[in-house]
Amino acid sequence: MFQEIRIAPSILSGDFMHMASSIELVEDAADWVHVDVMDGHFVPNLTMGVPFTAQLRKITDLPLDAHLMVSNPMRQYPWFLEAGADMICMHAEVMSADEVREAARDIHAADKQIGIALKPRTPVAIIEPYIDVLDMVLIMSVEPGFSGQGFIEGSEDKVAQVVALAEAAGVHPLIQVDGGIGEKTAARVAVAGADVLVCGNAFFKAADPAASAQAIRSIASAAQFKADQG
Ligand code: DX5
Ligand code: ZN
Repeated sequence: MFQEIRIAPSILSGDFMHMASSIELVEDAADWVHVDVMDGHFVPNLTMGVPFTAQLRKITDLPLDAHLMVSNPMRQYPWFLEAGADMICMHAEVMSADEVREAARDIHAADKQIGIALKPRTPVAIIEPYIDVLDMVLIMSVEPGFSGQGFIEGSEDKVAQVVALAEAAGVHPLIQVDGGIGEKTAARVAVAGADVLVCGNAFFKAADPAASAQAIRSIASAAQFKADQG
């Protein structure tokens, strides 16, 4: 029932002055590069954008997972496609169902993937009208805006709700969880059905990032294996 766990370190917690080294750490130990784009409007913080993503594209072949925390995703997503992002993930709170379908057509025409992200207080039912076109659903387990926050208890229930909604619709989008994921929280979200685990601080602030990624992967996979057996 479960897909293979992917680990997506968020470079927001990386070393901005030595980003190439941060990306090498990801290449050695993880699967995707999670790029947290913040516009200072949809969220209070400002981070990185299109030129930075284009530069990342030049230095890595790993999938670039662009998490757009911006108020105007319909204007911005084509720029991230152009910059070479592989997964374009936008927030449900600022998109209509028609816009999601339009963006999905464009993104799929470019052979890339579309994800839709939900803030902690956004109900899962919001994605029901368009879940059939999504490659990924992102459940935020912290309020978007900053790395290093604590996991919001109960976020795993929303993961389970996405699984149920997807099953009812006969589709299998990846399910990503973002915020406060580490060795203590990975098992619960994995058992609930998460496939892609974003790790900011748990990866980059660890004494040994590769060991931390390996531990998180093993904990999540073992929990899923056990759930499958039981
Ligand atoms: C929060 C970002 C997250 C965050 C993850 O708005 O979307 O990707 O940087 O960082 P940790 O894992 O430290 O919570
Ligand atoms: Zn993120």
